[in-house]
Amino acid sequence: MSYERSNIKRMTGYASGEQPNQPGIIKLNTNENPYPASPAVAAALADLRVDSLRRYPQPLANDFRRIAAQYHQVGIDNIIATNGGDELLRLVITTFVDVGETIAIAEPSYSLYPVLAEIQGCEVARIDLQDDWSMAADFAARLNATGAKLAFVVNPHAPSGLLTSAERLAEIAQEFTGVLVIDEAYVDFIDPDLHYDAVALTKRFDNVLILRTMSKGYSLAGLRFAYGIAATSLTEPMLYKTRDSYNTDVISQVLATAALSDRAAAAVSWEKVRTERARVKKALENLGFQCADSQSNFLLAQVPSADARYENSELMAREFYQRLKDDGILIRYFDQPRLRDKLRITIGTFDENQQLLQHLESYLRNT
Ligand SMILES: Cc1ncc(COP(=O)(O)O)c(C=O)c1O
Repeated sequence: MSYERSNIKRMTGYASGEQPNQPGIIKLNTNENPYPASPAVAAALADLRVDSLRRYPQPLANDFRRIAAQYHQVGIDNIIATNGGDELLRLVITTFVDVGETIAIAEPSYSLYPVLAEIQGCEVARIDLQDDWSMAADFAARLNATGAKLAFVVNPHAPSGLLTSAERLAEIAQEFTGVLVIDEAYVDFIDPDLHYDAVALTKRFDNVLILRTMSKGYSLAGLRFAYGIAATSLTEPMLYKTRDSYNTDVISQVLATAALSDRAAAAVSWEKVRTERARVKKALENLGFQCADSQSNFLLAQVPSADARYENSELMAREFYQRLKDDGILIRYFDQPRLRDKLRITIGTFDENQQLLQHLESYLRNT
């Protein structure tokens, strides 16, 4: 006897990247920051008293929201704190899209989006990105043609790392008739010289919601804390109606507040990741891989042309992924159209990246 709703019965759940806990594994598969969180976070953790857990947390995480509002130069009511970015994604769907309505996604992108849409019983419209992973000139018109109530775009794009300018996003927000979620999970790794800033769009457009997470830039993936920035017509229904009553816990509120208050420490890690990103890209290209230009903390690398040892590039990519895994290095392989001949590699520390490069070089030499 199955008690599941029929759409839940039909669907397949989200496949998380592997999270092994054996020591010695080099983990370049889930885009975590390879450097530790700020010492201010460690100090706040050490100061936490078990008695602080006796009471419920602040329902809306107001201490955190105040800091986030100051940082982004918006009102506190323009900020919603959530239990990871994934909770915010689920909240926007349940708040703004009815069962049977359509959610549009740029394809390919974060594979959780269609899963969340299916849970809600929504239709998913996939708008293909162009060969260079950019959005076509008629992207917004195509979103509108699907009748979507909500669209997800991730910027910098995952899994390629391509950055779309805020001006281009403004054009899309202007034309799109639904809610545009700009998922900025990887925003902290953008080269500051590019002066990217899409938060201002939330003041110009009441249909734009920006997702930020503490998981990547702030080295707190294990904490589960993120936030959204938007006009109050988007934040308030989630803050006061659809959010779980205590959706973020005492510990995560304290540590996320400490982290966001000490951005300078996190920024040192972002710069190191950028330096390594450039070095690893060049090294991969020297080995014959083709990498998209990434403004994120990962690279999407197309394997070199398959030689006689491999039937085709897809089998070569799959084998490289598996051989790396057997050798204790985890990266991500996506068994989906346009990605089967590519490997997505998170930027690690210098030593981790060297290990990766040395292994790939040895596979290419067939040793
Ligand atoms: C594109 C994208 N958006 C959102 C998230 C959610 O991150 P979290 O739930 O850790 O905040 C991730 C995590 O990998 C992601 O890759």
